[in-house]
Amino acid sequence: MSRKSPNKKRTAAILIPAAALLLFTLPGFYAGLTVRRYSLESDKISSPLRIALLSDLHSCRYGRGQKNLIRAIQKEAPDLILLAGDIFDDKKDDAKTEELLSGISSLYPCFYVTGNHEYWATEDKYQKKMAILDRYGVHVLHDRMETVEINGSAITVAGLDDPDRALNFHYTRGGSLYEGELPQALAALDRERNPACFSILLSHRPELFPLYRETGFDLVVSGHAHGGQWRLPFLQNGLYSPHEGLFPKYSGGLFSESGTTMIVSRGLARESTPVPRFYNPPELVIIELK
Ligand SMILES: [Fe+2]
Repeated sequence: MSRKSPNKKRTAAILIPAAALLLFTLPGFYAGLTVRRYSLESDKISSPLRIALLSDLHSCRYGRGQKNLIRAIQKEAPDLILLAGDIFDDKKDDAKTEELLSGISSLYPCFYVTGNHEYWATEDKYQKKMAILDRYGVHVLHDRMETVEINGSAITVAGLDDPDRALNFHYTRGGSLYEGELPQALAALDRERNPACFSILLSHRPELFPLYRETGFDLVVSGHAHGGQWRLPFLQNGLYSPHEGLFPKYSGGLFSESGTTMIVSRGLARESTPVPRFYNPPELVIIELK
């Protein structure tokens, strides 16, 4: 009968937990593109339609010419695309965002609203980003709405500008974010909304859900929180997100409160973030409306 030596026991005591830790940790850093699906029903929709929601690309790369992201979108054959802000970045150049727009804008109607990072750029850089959107025929919604007919249903898309517009291109960390005209702009959009049309509010900031709940929009779509950046399976809904802090409530997913539904994308940012994602792969969100 053989007995394990103390040395072998000590080695096993180190190696087994280390291997377990490695097995848990490594898959967490997987950052391949994921498709996340939601389905909603409304009697304002006469035949089903499909929305692709893209948020927080931050001009990150998805293959040469953005082919991986463009292919994933084409595979889903959406009826319209919503771009929920921070599609550009204030520090990275605009090339990867332009490649994406070049690949999708002639195929699908695209609607865009600003995020904070577009306003964190200098005014000159911001104007260049707006010119790119204009060049590709993207519907830019600065506190305004458009109604489109899709598959026999009238769909209103309203865009609420990011509150950092109020910083007027003079971003200082810790600046006051929600003062200014945002509540009034939101109320004006709500008044203009035709209750007979299915209405979508496109707004970058999920933490403003208490304000959105006061409106009659059928659906709010948002981004910004990057899924809370680190997510531990089964334990919590993201570790940290900007403007919500630790353990954010609205970091990603579907939220229904007081009759309002909000879908928050975990976004597409990868190499632009100083801290890698953990159990939180970037996502293309597909919303089926029936
Ligand atoms: Fe953002």
